Amino acid sequence: MNTSKQRPVRVAIIGLGWWGQKMVSILKSCGTELEIVCAVEPNPAAGDFCANNGLTLAASYDAALARADVDAVILATPHSLHPEQIDRGAAARKHIFCEKPLALTKADAERAVRLCREAGLVLGMGHERRFEPPIVDILQKASGGHLGRILQIEANFSHDKFMTLNKSNWRLDPQEAPVAGMTATGIHLTDLSVKLLGAAYDVRVSCETLASDFRQGDTFSAHVRFKGGGTAYVSATLVTPFVSRFAVFGTKGWIDVRDKAHVEAPAGWIITRASVGSLIEISEVGPAEPVRENLVAFARAVRDGRPYEISGEDLVNNIALLEAIIRSAASGEVVAVG
Ligand SMILES: NC(=O)c1ccc[n+]([C@@H]2O[C@H](COP(=O)([O-])OP(=O)(O)OC[C@H]3O[C@@H](n4cnc5c(N)ncnc54)[C@H](O)[C@@H]3O)[C@@H](O)[C@H]2O)c1
Repeated sequence: MNTSKQRPVRVAIIGLGWWGQKMVSILKSCGTELEIVCAVEPNPAAGDFCANNGLTLAASYDAALARADVDAVILATPHSLHPEQIDRGAAARKHIFCEKPLALTKADAERAVRLCREAGLVLGMGHERRFEPPIVDILQKASGGHLGRILQIEANFSHDKFMTLNKSNWRLDPQEAPVAGMTATGIHLTDLSVKLLGAAYDVRVSCETLASDFRQGDTFSAHVRFKGGGTAYVSATLVTPFVSRFAVFGTKGWIDVRDKAHVEAPAGWIITRASVGSLIEISEVGPAEPVRENLVAFARAVRDGRPYEISGEDLVNNIALLEAIIRSAASGEVVAVG
């Protein structure tokens, strides 16, 4: 669908749960870039939220897709719904911003990327970590060669926010959200890993249930080897207080980024770094709103034809790795990435 360069990209937000509501608050501050036309949410309890936020509730996803004044859909729905909702969104020629993970299988990720590419649609992805200022700095330094050859990544993104969820919540269903915190948080770390090191070669996973009755496990780590060399150690636990650390090590330098708080309420970052011959330096970066930056990047790709930061190749590489992680968690074996 063509959009005028003069006006904001008009979106329908699909799913008004935890993250959908967070995105509504962000979208309301995106002013000239994005405008919410309607929302879709089957839970009647969302009525109050819509009334309080001036949102029009569409009767169904199909009803939102049928609207000529909707340029794009933002999917903030349970994971298993994403592929089918992307199929239908692309068929209706709407640009798509999908919350992570894009899909649970490589085949579904490839299909989503292909459908959007063939229809000339932008496929945005809820990997806002790419837009955190210290991560932007890492990615720029890495692509500029300032870190030298990238050798290793060590990363952990964990929290205990799901401890209070009702046991029937989809987030605690191993079919919907397999492998402890992998689809909740670990998927952001594998996204950054494939961005820095390319397609993964194989993976070995440990997924244990140590401090909860979560059926998908609560404590996960993966050791990933990459086709071009290099490794990533990634962990995502559901039963420890918030931690988010991403560290990348190269021959010319290394950088370790720690978030002070979860991205739902950013509080800034602590950076530790060293380069060849230097002392170790510690610095801080003040709060920013990477979820907004990601949505604005999506809007500019839709409206102005600018390239969107997360490529289709990265999206597929990440979900291929996710699929292998799910298989390795089940078998305990090293699994080749498809
Ligand atoms: N980028 C991030 O940092 C981040 C953070 C949290 C969640 N998420 C992602 O956001 C998505 C939603 O997660 P959540 O934590 O908000 O879950 P949630 O359960 O709180 O919200 C999901 C909402 O989708 C609604 N829904 C279910 N079926 C629907 C349908 N067919 N059409 C429209 N709405 C439907 C549910 O009623 C619910 O309100 C997930 O993909 C999750 O991974 C991303």
